[in-house]
Amino acid sequence: MAKADGNQKTIVGKIHPDVLSFTVGKDPVLDLELAVWDCLGTAAHVTMLSKMRVTPPIMGTEERNRVVAALVEIMREARAGTFTITEADQDVHLAVERRLTERLGDLGRRVHTGRSRNDQVAVDIRLHAKDQLLGLTEEVAALAERLAAFGRRHARLPMVGRTHLQPAMPSTVGLWATGYAELLFDDLPLVEAAYITNDRCPLGSAAGYGVPLPLDRALTARLLDFARPHHNVFHASNARGKNEAVMLAACGQLMLSLSRLAEDLILFSMPEFGYFVLPPELCTGSSIMPQKYNPDVLELIRAKAATVLGYGTAANTILKALPGGYNRDLQETKELYMEGLRVTRASLRIMALMVASLKVRPERLRAGFTPGVFATDRALALVAGGMPFRDAYQHVRSHLDELEAADPDQAVAAKTHEGGTAGLDFDFYRTRAGEVRRWVRERRRHAHAAFARLLGVTFPVA
Ligand code: ARG
Repeated sequence: MAKADGNQKTIVGKIHPDVLSFTVGKDPVLDLELAVWDCLGTAAHVTMLSKMRVTPPIMGTEERNRVVAALVEIMREARAGTFTITEADQDVHLAVERRLTERLGDLGRRVHTGRSRNDQVAVDIRLHAKDQLLGLTEEVAALAERLAAFGRRHARLPMVGRTHLQPAMPSTVGLWATGYAELLFDDLPLVEAAYITNDRCPLGSAAGYGVPLPLDRALTARLLDFARPHHNVFHASNARGKNEAVMLAACGQLMLSLSRLAEDLILFSMPEFGYFVLPPELCTGSSIMPQKYNPDVLELIRAKAATVLGYGTAANTILKALPGGYNRDLQETKELYMEGLRVTRASLRIMALMVASLKVRPERLRAGFTPGVFATDRALALVAGGMPFRDAYQHVRSHLDELEAADPDQAVAAKTHEGGTAGLDFDFYRTRAGEVRRWVRERRRHAHAAFARLLGVTFPVA
């Protein structure tokens, strides 16, 4: 509510309404996603305060329990969608504090002792990110499994292998599909690196310079299931933004993998190729052309790859030459990070749906085998008869018009070496996906158990 002098009263002073609106930006909406994590961080903070040996105590155990119970209520409201953040609140941190004060009176006014919104938002995002990265990892494994299953179903189905998009060598649908599964697996160490970088607790760094109170930072880190606290409190502050940029880099690589897979699917499902059929219910029509089944999903994945890479570039560019310590610029990285993860995860899920019901057209795949596709195999057959490879190559090249089409099935069965068309170990994909899923399950279980101990109710709160 605007006051008589035109400025808006907030928990941290009176602000010109336009300035408030400009600086707050989208926080009242974006921060709703952080509400649960903000409550969790606050629960750890007040638990630590209640154990801190200072006289007079900042918060007793019974008071701590009342705060945590009120936080659980707010978490329920957040889940139910009834928790709101107003512009005057500015962000989730002050909205939760307001709510606690409405409920608990003066007790609510003590929770912010020894912390700042700077370490609060940093811890919120890191808790949110741990959860997001686990979900992302699971979705990568799910898509890789789908691709591997599709590859296994059509393990020896001949498909022309291309270089420069030109017909090159005999290949299979199995090789094509598991190749993309493995590309996704190779992105996972980047996600894991982001997970490890993120797995540090900034709580207790306050504004970035600590506080003259004996805070137990190792305890809050443990209560929140972080591997450890950031050691240097100034660094804890500077690590915001960088953490987001590292996660966006991993998302960017995943989107590049998806974009290339999307491009192959667009190409190979167009009538001129007709190797694959996209499920019609996953295509969209035209408002004028009745015959249309368009691959909009794949086109959007291709475009969103650019968008996510752009988010990463925006985050990196915000950080470049940013002075040390908190600067409001960092608030801008929040939306980039949230959107980047949301888009990447949605793309992985829709691509899994697409691959799950992808159909093959064996006759069209076989029809792609022009005699030239067998030229290299022919040269190597001459080598097997004792001819030096370069002579065999020259011979085949100068007799290309005499080249005869060979049997694609025989050609793909002949490459038995590791990872070749007849040397694929499909169990490798299953085992790797299983390992990844176990890694996620174990970490999620560990985190949720820690959160349940902290809150005294099951997590996620019902
Ligand atoms: N909403 C703010 C952000 O996301 C919270 C931190 C505000 N800190 C400050 N010193 N103004 O960055």
